[in-house]
Amino acid sequence: MFQARLLVLALCFAGIMAACDNNCSGHGTCSTDDVCECYDNWGVGLSHDSGDCSDRICPYELAWVDTPDNTVAFHKYAECANRGICNRETGECQCFDGYEGKGCQRSTCPNACSGHGTCEYIEELAFGETWNDYSKQYFIEDPKTFPYHGWDNRKIRTCVCDPTYGDVDCSKRLCPYGNDVLDIQDNSIITNYQIQQIRIKAINQLQGLRTQTFALTFKSKLNETFTTYPIVFDDSDLNDFVHDVQLALLKLPNRVIDGVSVAANRDYATDYLNLNITFTGNNVQGKQNLLVVESYECSDGCTPKITGIDVQTLYNQKHSNISEVLAADYYSFECGRRGKCDYNTGLCNCFTGYTGDNCNTMTTLT
Ligand SMILES: *[C@@H]1O[C@H](CO)[C@@H](O)[C@H](O)[C@H]1NC(C)=O
Ligand SMILES: *[C@@H]1O[C@H](CO)[C@@H](O)[C@H](O)[C@H]1NC(C)=O
Ligand SMILES: *[C@@H]1O[C@H](CO)[C@@H](O)[C@H](O)[C@H]1NC(C)=O
Ligand SMILES: *[C@@H]1O[C@H](CO)[C@@H](O)[C@H](O)[C@H]1NC(C)=O
Repeated sequence: MFQARLLVLALCFAGIMAACDNNCSGHGTCSTDDVCECYDNWGVGLSHDSGDCSDRICPYELAWVDTPDNTVAFHKYAECANRGICNRETGECQCFDGYEGKGCQRSTCPNACSGHGTCEYIEELAFGETWNDYSKQYFIEDPKTFPYHGWDNRKIRTCVCDPTYGDVDCSKRLCPYGNDVLDIQDNSIITNYQIQQIRIKAINQLQGLRTQTFALTFKSKLNETFTTYPIVFDDSDLNDFVHDVQLALLKLPNRVIDGVSVAANRDYATDYLNLNITFTGNNVQGKQNLLVVESYECSDGCTPKITGIDVQTLYNQKHSNISEVLAADYYSFECGRRGKCDYNTGLCNCFTGYTGDNCNTMTTLT
């Protein structure tokens, strides 16, 4: 009896010894020395030893934070990017708040941008998009993005709000901007409006541009962009030309530009055409975004359809450009600094004594 038992035990022992643990749980093959070789994404424990291949391994992505190794490599690949817990049953990352994606590789956007914006990667963010960014002064084909190669270029995201919406989660409706009606300036006799100057230099000769068409794009302080209808370039009749440019700007929707005057002069010595755009309207008080000259061809399926004007751009010594040549005397404030914006409606609640869309009119004192 005792001997029989021993024999059974010995047989069992031999049987176990001959196989891998738990037969590799059906997720691996048993190699000759009884060690499992797990299929991809299976293993055991935090260090993912092969063991009995009973645990799932979750997706690896560049770590948000980790410690450097001796080659000073940060942001190595890590399970769930070090920002989630791996569910070993399902193989899915349970990302912490603020992170998403199969491997928690992306940051979420605040409040999903409230339905009034898009969630963009850092590498998709545009340059020269803010109204006080005055470095964008050349006619550049694509002024929109920088190549960005940082480790986080496909990880960190932020809201890019639709026009007229703001705050980090795009939850607020923006209010109109305008002068502070009480703002005292040094130059109290003349009120200067902002003048933007467009200098046009042809690749060959200016007169060769006649009949070519271009357009101007204006971006309001609430980030609405509007592009004019095509404008025919004409350096032969400047009076007519400036009138056309003015009309095109005034005809932009919503009276975004409710007052503008245009002047031009032709510099024959250097063969430049200078256009001065002076913003005089109530809706365009203070510093404005630089206009963008749409100088490139925009043909089938593109709006507005323009031939483009063959001008020298950034990469030539004598180039076309646009710059502020006269700063506005007044600053531009939300609700003219004389009211409080109601961010639900986007309307200014003017303080007592002030009125107007942007509170820049004084009510008559009684
Ligand atoms: C062990 O697994 C292999 C392959 O997965 C299978 O062919 C074999 O029948 C299993 N053996 C036992 C005892 O379950
Ligand atoms: C306009 O858009 C830019 C770029 O997205 C942003 O930085 C800026 O804050 C926006 N302007 C307003 C008034 O929200
Ligand atoms: C454009 O504005 C500048 C700065 O005020 C001025 O010097 C220049 O004469 C103006 N040019 C035209 C054509 O009005
Ligand atoms: C625009 O071009 C003119 C002529 O090349 C140059 O004198 C001027 O400095 C340029 N302005 C800017 C802002 O680049």
